[in-house]
Amino acid sequence: MKIAVFGDIHGNIEALQTVYQAAISAKVEKIYHLGDLGGYAPFVNEVVDFLIEHHIEGVQGNYDDSVGNDREHCGCKYEDALQAEMADLSFKWTKEHASQKTRDYLRNLPFELSFSVHGKKVILFHATPKKNNLYWYEERPEKFFHEMAAKIDADVMIYGHTHKPYRKDFRGKVFINAGSVGKPKDGDPRACVTLVEITQSSMQTEFIRIPYDVGKIAAAIIASGLPPYFSEKLKTGK
Ligand SMILES: [Fe+2]
Repeated sequence: MKIAVFGDIHGNIEALQTVYQAAISAKVEKIYHLGDLGGYAPFVNEVVDFLIEHHIEGVQGNYDDSVGNDREHCGCKYEDALQAEMADLSFKWTKEHASQKTRDYLRNLPFELSFSVHGKKVILFHATPKKNNLYWYEERPEKFFHEMAAKIDADVMIYGHTHKPYRKDFRGKVFINAGSVGKPKDGDPRACVTLVEITQSSMQTEFIRIPYDVGKIAAAIIASGLPPYFSEKLKTGK
């Protein structure tokens, strides 16, 4: 079975359309998203409509929970005061512009999704098995991976939230961070789509990076009234 996974789309409809075409070209059987559908770019409603229209199921991210439930804070982590201020503006903008249909969709997303292939249990969630706002970076010690695996009954775990893709294999368990479609933070501004192919005897993971019209979405960010800060971030993939 071959699937495509779309991590953290964050209102970037241009990137979403691009990775969708790549997934179709790769002839995947199913596409999943990992939540965080709005914020930082203006097309949260269009992203939700696209996912519904194309029957792309997914899980709830911290941003979806916060917007869908009208919380005070997006549950994101900030590195400095500027980032905190910008993130706050983005969160307020997204709450103001999300339609009722979008809010309902975000609020009702499940925390996790699971399925079995060739006897392997695959689980998707946004950040970690029990908390959707904890950053599970590749650099975490191996012990952390084992602690997370102990919280859930799964052979393959697929998640996002950090916007930095990786795969690790420990003690027969597979850990895949699918990166981010719409707001990569690993220094590569191209959209990321993760393909996972599970056969009887193997499991292949591919992180495909696809160029798209970053300038178009960057201009849309500025035109929408969101801080230009986010258009600059998209161009550098930071
Ligand atoms: Fe995110």
